[in-house]
Amino acid sequence: MLSKTLCVLGGTGFVGHHLVSQLTRAGYYVVVPSRNRERHRSLQVLPKVEVVDANIFDDDSLDALFVGCHAVVNLVAILNENKRGDFNRVHVELVEKITNDCRRSGVTRLLHMSALNADADKGGSRYLRSKGAGEKVAHAAEDLNVTSFRPSLIFGEDDHFFNRFAGLLRKLPIVPLTCPESRMAPVYVGDVVEVMTKALNDKATYGQAYELCGPDIVTLKQVVGYTNRLTGLRRAVIPLGNGMSALMGRMLQWLPYKPFSYDNYLSLQTPAVCNGPFPGRFGVTPKAIDSVVPKYIGRADIRGRYDTMRRRAARDKDPLGGG
Ligand SMILES: NC(=O)c1ccc[n+]([C@@H]2O[C@H](COP(=O)([O-])OP(=O)(O)OC[C@H]3O[C@@H](n4cnc5c(N)ncnc54)[C@H](OP(=O)(O)O)[C@@H]3O)[C@@H](O)[C@H]2O)c1
Repeated sequence: MLSKTLCVLGGTGFVGHHLVSQLTRAGYYVVVPSRNRERHRSLQVLPKVEVVDANIFDDDSLDALFVGCHAVVNLVAILNENKRGDFNRVHVELVEKITNDCRRSGVTRLLHMSALNADADKGGSRYLRSKGAGEKVAHAAEDLNVTSFRPSLIFGEDDHFFNRFAGLLRKLPIVPLTCPESRMAPVYVGDVVEVMTKALNDKATYGQAYELCGPDIVTLKQVVGYTNRLTGLRRAVIPLGNGMSALMGRMLQWLPYKPFSYDNYLSLQTPAVCNGPFPGRFGVTPKAIDSVVPKYIGRADIRGRYDTMRRRAARDKDPLGGG
């Protein structure tokens, strides 16, 4: 039997890597367009995966990618703009192109990745506003069967979250922490991609948007404290107040790598916590942070294992065992 082909836009990213491997395990053949396929050799070695150089903002390229596909998955997003208008171009205009090109190429199924708190009509973060507008565009395509996903922060091997804090802690002797009291319910990437894979052929998910959160509700301060303990570095972490966090956003956004921006500050003002339980339809029990993160952050030595036991004992007060 021939495998069904899927096109995963943004499949070379963090979630993309996990999703593409899961889809191939489920028997699909996956085409992944990229701006630079050479940077993604780890994907190219997977059986049934084809990484191709393509400009996904070009309609003819999208048409060529989509023809013959069973479904399209859109994971493309940016956290910061290089120039004004990038959020709109990547999160909204691209979704318009995708829906139009699905229609032209005869694709009828689209999985669209949004984000928790994405809202086109709310002030504040332009990232969240544009993600909300893109989600609206996707669901407005009436002739397409669209399912969207609204995760909180996503963690897992190669994430941009625990790994980023671990990197900062390794580099800096003292870590100033912006928005320390921001709340979130991080969700495991394995759970996210399992839900997406199960949704692909589930007609009951057509037209639906699913919020995805993990079981732990934590503050950024708890996350960084936990990462500090896991790495064994025990750096001094200085929580910054609101005014100073905003100021750091306004300043750091001018650095080339934009470690933090004013828009990031704005998005952290709304708790990234779901309004209800994890969607029961998919038969997935979302994993706790402490059951996954020590496998990719921290030390495997005796002291590290001892720390893990102490954290678990202290978990009554704090899901990350901060005491
Ligand atoms: N990670 C999280 O914690 C989190 C939380 C909530 C929602 N999400 C959503 O989940 C999705 C995936 O996130 P992720 O963390 O996996 O992102 P990621 O690692 O940054 O990957 C994004 C992908 O999009 C592509 N891309 C980015 N900008 C592009 C551009 N201007 N033109 C063409 N392609 C571009 C990149 O492909 P190439 O470089 O190969 O071209 C890259 O593979 C996004 O929609 C994001 O909003 C993520």
